[in-house]
Amino acid sequence: HPAPPCTLVIFGARGDLTKRLLIPALYNLAGSGLLDAQFRILGVDRTPGDTAGWRDGLAATMQEFTRDRNAEFYTPQIDPGAWSWIAERLEYVQADFSDLEQVRALGARLPGSAVFYLAVPSRFFGSLVAMLGQAGLTSEQGDMFRRVVIEKPFGSDLATARALNQQVLSVLDERQIYRIDHFLGKETVQNILAMRFGNLIFEPLWRNEYVDHVQITAAETIGVEQRGAFYEPTGALRDMVPNHLFQLFAMVAMEPPASFSAETVRTAKEQLFESVRPIDPRDAVRGQYGTGVVADRPVAAYRDSAGVAKDSVTETYVALKLHVDNWRWSGVPFYLRTGKSLGGRRTEVVVQFKKPPVAIFRGTETAALPPNRMIVNIQPAQGLTIEMGAKRPGPAMDLADVQVRFRYEDAFDLQPNVGYETLLYDCLTGDATLFQRADNINAAWTAVDPVLQAWAQSAQDLEFYPAGATGPAGADALLARDGRAWYPLDQT
Ligand code: BG6
Repeated sequence: HPAPPCTLVIFGARGDLTKRLLIPALYNLAGSGLLDAQFRILGVDRTPGDTAGWRDGLAATMQEFTRDRNAEFYTPQIDPGAWSWIAERLEYVQADFSDLEQVRALGARLPGSAVFYLAVPSRFFGSLVAMLGQAGLTSEQGDMFRRVVIEKPFGSDLATARALNQQVLSVLDERQIYRIDHFLGKETVQNILAMRFGNLIFEPLWRNEYVDHVQITAAETIGVEQRGAFYEPTGALRDMVPNHLFQLFAMVAMEPPASFSAETVRTAKEQLFESVRPIDPRDAVRGQYGTGVVADRPVAAYRDSAGVAKDSVTETYVALKLHVDNWRWSGVPFYLRTGKSLGGRRTEVVVQFKKPPVAIFRGTETAALPPNRMIVNIQPAQGLTIEMGAKRPGPAMDLADVQVRFRYEDAFDLQPNVGYETLLYDCLTGDATLFQRADNINAAWTAVDPVLQAWAQSAQDLEFYPAGATGPAGADALLARDGRAWYPLDQT
């Protein structure tokens, strides 16, 4: 069904997010007939310009996608019908969103329902929401809705996240707020719930009786690139952990929700987050990349990137151990790691099961039996891999580790998408299931807060790793301490 008619107001219309992700997602929604004929896009930014100029710039970016196979949205061709459907509905307004009168003036262009998308630097989130309220743009009537989409980072620690939540909740009702985490737009992430709760065979094993531990990895080969000024005060922990990695963790570890409605799902997440023990700084490892080689290309040290201090102690890698104090997961550690300029690009969840209790095969010790692993491949591989023991052909009863694989591309006709399609459509239709509630955000920051605080005191524990490595040595030690090892970055 097409979403109800409304105007999508994009603050930060000239920014990167708009052209790289939002517009391609809207184009895909238009192509699937999921937008209403009355739908309009109002782009707002400070840069002088008019609608024709904005539209031409966006059209040029869309054409670039057809030439760049590595683009987030690679598509061999742009469908002229879907593109003109979007292009006709674009309107650009030059306005300063720190000026109340200019924000108020936007009201005249909004006759009915509207979604305000804050694609602006995070320091503007609070004041912009306050101005939308003061300008009277957030009041709803009957079926007419007014919603606000807030990008990440939502706060930079527990105190700032709480303050921002208070600020936006003094203007908006929780149901009007859509705090976005683009990981939840990924098909493979949503599929974790489908896999767990749409099948019988996994869920009975999904608990401490059978699971030894879980690893959640988001390894990137890209470095900090041109984002030094953003990354330097942020670091890997704030950039990836309480948001993206916690979303993966929630999908894997939450209890079955009673239904797939927004409040039920978000309450189930909240219960999980509340059972996470605030992380002991001794269970956290941080690293920063030095010079090295990634995919045969020399990479300069993080400290030599634009916008980064020569003596920077910002971490570009973090590994953590989470303890979950609930009945299902008590005693099962969750190890999380993420880093930039690593030797492999892969986002995945590895659920490692315990070993079979006895080895009945002659000459085989229980210890020698391979543990079962279930690997949720999020990207670049999309699918599911199960590692299991199988008899090696031959006269001896010898077991080998084999893989059973499901690959998205084998089962489905995959259309190019950017992952914002579902999230935008959900927001237009009023479904907040895949968005963060205030309590979810605060709970995630609560878990990582002790580490942020300890790290702010001293950077003595910061380790260095060469670009192209799997991370700092301390990350391996974190698991070795527990008699475990990271799943290799170059497998599957
Ligand atoms: C962003 C972070 O939110 O997520 C980036 O700011 C990171 O630093 C990116 O590279 C990872 O997202 P994806 O979809 O490329 O895995």
